[in-house]
Amino acid sequence: MSEEIPRLIVDGKRLDGRDFDELRPIKIEAGVLRRADGSCYIEMGKNKIVAAVYGPREVHPRHLQDPSRAIIRYRYNMAPFSVEERKKPGPDRRSIEISKVSREALEPVILKELFPRSGIDIFVEVLQADAGTRTACLNAASVALIDAGVAMRGMITAVAVAKVEGEIVLDPMKEEDNYGEADVPFAFLIRNGKIESIALLQMDGKMSAEEMKKALELAKKGAMQIYNIQREAIMRKYSREEEEVE
Ligand code: CDP
Repeated sequence: MSEEIPRLIVDGKRLDGRDFDELRPIKIEAGVLRRADGSCYIEMGKNKIVAAVYGPREVHPRHLQDPSRAIIRYRYNMAPFSVEERKKPGPDRRSIEISKVSREALEPVILKELFPRSGIDIFVEVLQADAGTRTACLNAASVALIDAGVAMRGMITAVAVAKVEGEIVLDPMKEEDNYGEADVPFAFLIRNGKIESIALLQMDGKMSAEEMKKALELAKKGAMQIYNIQREAIMRKYSREEEEVE
């Protein structure tokens, strides 16, 4: 029997009442884990994610060390209880791919040359998933890296755009991701408050060149809003630390 596809847009609004260019509610908190060098908790809609950064620290096994720069490792992991059908623990093809593209998005932003022979480990744990986890994870990882004091060229800020019932919509949630016509996660390098380049771009489904242009504009608009929330989270963490010192 074929599954019935729900209407995703009714009277110009999305299932959760959002406009096409509206993000889900976002909450970001830096420095949530005591034992990590840097950490971050993020909620983007129903996604709940923790990022932890360790390093720069000595790399083991030693033969992996690079005498000219730090090596970056990124592990994306979904908790078994994070999705509707229990996720089998451990890496799978999807999480290995997400870890790889996310590491590649972050690597050029980290000033690796400043930390020869060392390693920077980034762990992201998805506690609850509702579409757009790879982008939410990158947002959290970026804040956690800054929280760890890792020197960076800028901030990585990520958001997905989808095509749903012929409309281009920002930050799709699960139903839109499942039943939509396309899903396009973006990550941007933002420097001095300006989008400098695209750090990640993937595409699942089909979009015309015109729609893709529109998707990019929408993603940039959403990314600037997320960037401000990332910055606020870092500022709050630093002012908290200052108060503690006083
Ligand atoms: O999470 P993201 O959109 O970056 O990646 P995806 O592969 O497009 O997955 C979309 C969503 O499908 C995830 O966010 C989860 O909510 C869900 N999913 C799931 O229910 N079970 C899995 N094993 C993997 C993903």
